[in-house]
Amino acid sequence: MPHTKNTTNKGNNMNPEFWQERWQNKRIGFNQPEVNPLLIKYFSTLDLLASSRVFVPLCGKSIDMLWLIDQGYDVVGIELVESAVQEFFIEQGISYTIKAHSENSNIKCYQGQLLSQTIELWVADIFTLGADNIGHVDAVYDRAALIAMPPELRPQYSQQVIDLSQNSPQLLLTLNYDQNERAGPPFSITHEQIQQYYSAHYQINKLEGKASVLNAAPEMAVKEYIWLLSQ
Ligand SMILES: C[S@@+](CC[C@H](N)C(=O)[O-])C[C@H]1O[C@@H](n2cnc3c(N)ncnc32)[C@H](O)[C@@H]1O
Repeated sequence: MPHTKNTTNKGNNMNPEFWQERWQNKRIGFNQPEVNPLLIKYFSTLDLLASSRVFVPLCGKSIDMLWLIDQGYDVVGIELVESAVQEFFIEQGISYTIKAHSENSNIKCYQGQLLSQTIELWVADIFTLGADNIGHVDAVYDRAALIAMPPELRPQYSQQVIDLSQNSPQLLLTLNYDQNERAGPPFSITHEQIQQYYSAHYQINKLEGKASVLNAAPEMAVKEYIWLLSQ
C-alpha cells in the first residue's frame, strides 16, 4: 500500500475520543434518515461522467453514499470511527472485505461492491492519508464535514481535501447561525470563510440557501447553504 502522509491531528477540543464517544453512545443526530434533498437537487451541477468516483470526507454512515452508488458512481470515504463504517456496511446489507494498511496497523480500508459500483471506506484520521492512498477522485461531496471541524483546523482540513482530491470539484453544504448562541459542532461558517478556505483553488457559486433546523437547538435561526466549488 502506498506511503502514508505523516501529519498528525493538532490538539483541539474535538480529539478522536470526542467522535468515538459520540458513535459509542449513539449521539449521532447528524446522521440523516433520508438522502439529503440538496444532494439530489444539485448533484448534477458537478457534471460528472458515468462511473465517476466521488470522495466523501468524514463520511460517517451517511446514506447519501448509497444514493451516489444508486446513481452509478463509485464512492471513497474517510471516517475516523470504525464502528460507523461497520454499521454502514451491515445496515445497507453490503458485504465487505478489509484491506490492512501495510505501514500503519491503525488504518484499514473496508471495500464492498453494490450493483456495479465499488465503495471503499477508509477508517483513518483524514490528516493521515495521502492522495496515493485514496486513489483517483472526480468530485467531492462534503456534507457535515467542513462544519464538523473547529475553526483552527479548517484551513488544514480544506487544504487536505484539495490535496486528496487533487482539486476536484466539490459540492459543499454548510450551516450559518449565530455562533455566540451555541458552540459547535456543527460550526457556523460564513461566506467569507468559504472564500478564505477555497477561493485560491476554486470558483465558488452559492447554489441555494434555505432555512434549516439544528436538532440540538431547534429554536435557533439557522440557514443551510449549498455551494458548487469548480475550476
Ligand atoms: C458530523 S459527522 C458527519 C458524518 C457524515 N458526513 C454525515 O453527513 O452524516 C462528522 C464525522 O466525521 C468523523 N470525523 C471527525 N474527525 C475526523 C477526522 N479527523 N478524520 C476522519 N473522520 C473524522 C466523525 O467520526 C463523524 O462521523
